[in-house]
Amino acid sequence: MTDLADIADVGRDARRGGYSRHGFDRVELELREWFTQEAERRGLDVRPDRNGNLWAWWGRPGPDAVITGSHLDSVPGGGAFDGPLGVVSALQAFDVLRARGFTPSKPLAIVVFVEEEGGRFGVACLGSRLMTGAITAEAACKLVDADGVTFGEAAHAAGFDPLRMGRDDRALSSVGAFVELHVEQGRGLDVPVGLASSILAHGRWRYTFRGEGNHAGATVIEDRRDPMLPAARMVLAARRAATSGARATVGRIVPNPGGTNVIASSVDVWLDARAGDEPRTREVVGLITEAARAAAEEEGCEVRVTEESWGGTVHFDPDLMSRVRDALGGGTPALPTGAGHDAGILAAHVPTAMLFVRNPTGISHAPEEFAEADDCAAGVAALATTLEHLAR
Ligand code: GLV
Ligand code: MN
Ligand code: MN
Ligand code: MN
Repeated sequence: MTDLADIADVGRDARRGGYSRHGFDRVELELREWFTQEAERRGLDVRPDRNGNLWAWWGRPGPDAVITGSHLDSVPGGGAFDGPLGVVSALQAFDVLRARGFTPSKPLAIVVFVEEEGGRFGVACLGSRLMTGAITAEAACKLVDADGVTFGEAAHAAGFDPLRMGRDDRALSSVGAFVELHVEQGRGLDVPVGLASSILAHGRWRYTFRGEGNHAGATVIEDRRDPMLPAARMVLAARRAATSGARATVGRIVPNPGGTNVIASSVDVWLDARAGDEPRTREVVGLITEAARAAAEEEGCEVRVTEESWGGTVHFDPDLMSRVRDALGGGTPALPTGAGHDAGILAAHVPTAMLFVRNPTGISHAPEEFAEADDCAAGVAALATTLEHLAR
């Protein structure tokens, strides 16, 4: 809690409430600097990788390392815990192990992944996707933020070489196990600490509706080709399609040009859709797309659909989970989650597990996100015990 208090004023968003911290923006760079100082103060060796992720090593980097960590960026107007809790808990867990006089026989490190939320460049888990090759450097570097700055330009300004980005087999092969601690994001946990069992299949799509820009007063209703209408109908279709545990969300709509007295010429609508498995997720998106196409046609508009990111269902490593359970006690519950994580990207490549800290309200991706100090302390203790077990 004192470490979270250290960064409590960094990146506050006065307009939205909460925090807006995005990959390679001024605020995230300040947080990376803070992390570097905290890690170095503890005698850790901080080395950025080629993709903009930060690694802080206890011991020489080497194969079979035990890695923990999370991210420091947020969604627009996000909470204090999603991301930073995992980073701060990692630093604290290292303190606990040092105080216990623990000497690891495997290298240990804390990793801070860049742009986990995709709040600036649109693709979530960008740093871990780059590292694992789930996105190419070429595709990542072309992503643009709301001001037209590309990820490649932002990375370059932060001191990284876009030409050297991309799948990093050396970094990946050093990871013997990855354990990410995170605040739980629903009300799925009724004890302080649990494990994650799986993550829903999950993707993001952009629907661009095109009509005809015109005057809000002078254009009679019959003469309009207003793209906001099929956009609105698509939002309702998303709600209807998301049945039986599937989730479909429209959290962002941008009309162009965006004037109160202007019929938009186009509207961009972003869909976030998730479900238990890949075919079901595709089915939900298919239903929404069908409805969007029909609505666009009826309103004299056009729609173009672009898949911006995709990830299949994640099942965390059963062996690693049982080793974590051995360390923590067999009663530690495991629960599925609908939230995405860098751990979900890494899970396709290396043994990966997650520790969840109870969320008493179930609120996340919002300023009200909260976890009790005692539960956070239990998270640190569980992480320390887990790392000790894995690295001894
Ligand atoms: C990341 O937190 C996500 O689930 O979108
Ligand atoms: Mn998040
Ligand atoms: Mn997160
Ligand atoms: Mn006018």
